[in-house]
Amino acid sequence: MAMFKEDSPIKALYQSLPVLERQGEELSEEARLKTINGPLLSWYPAHARELPWRQDRNPYRVWISEIMLQQTRVEAVKPYFERFMKALPDIKALAEVEEDALLKLWEGLGYYSRARNLKKAAVMIQEEYGGRMPESYEELLKLPGIGSYTAGAVASIAFGIPVPAVDGNVMRVISRLLGSFEDITKPQTKRRLEILLKQTMDQNQAGFFNQGLFEVGALVCIPNGAPKCSECPISSVCLARQKGLWDEIPVKPVKKARRIEEKTVLVIVGKNEELGRAAKFQKAVVALKKRPPEGLLASLYEFPNVEGKLLLENSAQAAAAAGVAEAAVEAFRPIGEAKHIFSHVEWHMTGYLIQVAGALPETFISADIRELEGKYPVPNAFLAYRKALSAIN
Ligand code: ADE
Ligand code: SF4
Repeated sequence: MAMFKEDSPIKALYQSLPVLERQGEELSEEARLKTINGPLLSWYPAHARELPWRQDRNPYRVWISEIMLQQTRVEAVKPYFERFMKALPDIKALAEVEEDALLKLWEGLGYYSRARNLKKAAVMIQEEYGGRMPESYEELLKLPGIGSYTAGAVASIAFGIPVPAVDGNVMRVISRLLGSFEDITKPQTKRRLEILLKQTMDQNQAGFFNQGLFEVGALVCIPNGAPKCSECPISSVCLARQKGLWDEIPVKPVKKARRIEEKTVLVIVGKNEELGRAAKFQKAVVALKKRPPEGLLASLYEFPNVEGKLLLENSAQAAAAAGVAEAAVEAFRPIGEAKHIFSHVEWHMTGYLIQVAGALPETFISADIRELEGKYPVPNAFLAYRKALSAIN
């Protein structure tokens, strides 16, 4: 900087001005990123949300919360997280839990492979790491269900290892900061931001740095609508703000439309004879099927269903084909339409309630209606029909 003498007081003043005010200076991406460490780390403690997984830095709690937060909003995660921790307070409990009980704890959160991977990883930690979460980014990455984001979050928050945790929110903040038009859905964009952040982030407060970026993404540099740049701790160096580009960044190509699947759902209710303490009595049961172990909603339970939107007559035939004897049917009535949206598919469902005299065909699991809510993980896609069922009981 040749324009000032080495000991000039004006030079010191000049250097303390926010970078935005220093006209004519182009910062490299690395330099721009380095300037956010100070402001972000002083802003974070005063703005951090109080969240159940922030009570301590227990690696197990950090891990479970990060997995839950991957596809689910913070507010939705909170009650699930508390319940999960009560039921499975440590890695050993998770490694030993029955799959149905685990999926039941996850019921409603969606993306159930996350739950199955948690258990697989817990078993691996028990067998290969002596029951303790490995304290290394590279070792964490080897666990099922843990990618660069989760490994970075656990390593930095629980162990203070200086690695970034780049998710969609962090990519939005950083690409706005850098004024970058790279497509944030591309793996190489994420990879590049990870490398840049790893080099430039504060090396001693990695957990607070990463959580500071989560906080800016959640509270200030919000998606869908104007970010609150006037409250932003990094606004003085933000290129999106300087150039008015917040509306154009981040760049994401439009998603393909979801495929629509029509389904007819049969809620088949029967009665099983049960030997009680005093005498035989009848309990109401509902027909369930276990879904295959791979694919959408793998290993969860569902009401029997067939493809297509069937009229009442045709669904009676479908029920007969599934083994429900026509003579045993006492009532058959529509219970409405329902829709469920997954990431790539939409189910458009038509439901029928079928009440039969006596037991259900053996091809079904006969679930005690009172046990359904507590015992069988039935995904939220069928929520409307679970409700219809409680109305008849
Ligand atoms: N989003 C992802 N991880 C988070 C965390 N640890 N706290 C708050 N929001 C998050
Ligand atoms: Fe986002 Fe505005 Fe902050 Fe830039 S100044 S990071 S656009 S909130």
